[in-house]
Amino acid sequence: MTNKIVLTGIKPTGMPHFGNYIGALKPMIESAKTQKTIMFIADLHALNTIYDPKTVREHTYQAAAIMMALGIDLNNTLMFRQSDVEQIYQLNTLLMNVTPKGLMNRAHSYKAAMDKNIANGVDVDAGVNMGLYTYPILMSADILLYGADIVPVGADQKQHVEFARDIAGHFNAIYGETFKMPEPVIGKESGLIPGLDGRKMSKSYDNTIPLMAPENELKKKIMRIITDSKTPEESKNPDESTIFQLYKHFATEPEIAEFADMFRRGGMGYGTAKTILFDKINGAIKDARTEYERLMENKHEIDAVLNHGAQQAKQIAERTMQRVKKAMLG
Ligand code: TRP
Repeated sequence: MTNKIVLTGIKPTGMPHFGNYIGALKPMIESAKTQKTIMFIADLHALNTIYDPKTVREHTYQAAAIMMALGIDLNNTLMFRQSDVEQIYQLNTLLMNVTPKGLMNRAHSYKAAMDKNIANGVDVDAGVNMGLYTYPILMSADILLYGADIVPVGADQKQHVEFARDIAGHFNAIYGETFKMPEPVIGKESGLIPGLDGRKMSKSYDNTIPLMAPENELKKKIMRIITDSKTPEESKNPDESTIFQLYKHFATEPEIAEFADMFRRGGMGYGTAKTILFDKINGAIKDARTEYERLMENKHEIDAVLNHGAQQAKQIAERTMQRVKKAMLG
């Protein structure tokens, strides 16, 4: 264990899928076994798209329950709800003043929204709210408030961590050394995890397998994986099969070798291969799913963890805010 602080925000936008699990959640759980971890459910980040408080609340519980059910090590991890720590709103406001507007213009998420509007022939800023536009400032506040050293993110979020460094740099140049420089750490490309149609597993392709889907739904999804039309007798190439690609993430080396061999040998139909995959994935997730369902029926247990985390997080946040206010306001 090093003394470095790893910080992660989980945006509560609904049930994560197995691509999220393999690419992000599982590595987080692993890392938290040996690293001091600050993990919050980034509910404020969901507000620029979700306008229904019940949904925000439910999704927040869902995200927390999933991490608990997957066995996040709470001895090393402070887990809390982003909105419970009021210092985040304060730092967000103060950082606005040292954030160049041009930086926000360059944000990938904002540029993507503009490009879409241009393609649709409407005003460039149609449907863009200031929550989306200033999203990188809030994310910088998250990172800087808790003095994070390491921020593991997917490639799509790397720019945000670089913005946090830029903003910290501007602030430190004006007011003196106040913020630590966070380092982005980019995880392995989760784009390698195929969805039901063989393309990258992604909500935008509607090809996902939800992580905590009830057993019968999980089975139905897996049975819907698209395959080619080879007969059971024919030899198949495992490396071209979504079934095999998914299996690899849940099996041991000898099991993987054996399954690959069954593909090549011929004599195994895709229906059988899917059943083998289902048994493997179901076996890997079953206990966590039961615990997840139990927690969602006992939300006071989730609240207890989140409230305890928020109390601790506030103490760290308050120390930072005192330094920041003194630097800016004297
Ligand atoms: N923006 C991240 C996402 O969409 C979530 C997030 C919010 C985050 N604040 C963070 C991630 C701070 C890392 C650090 O997934």
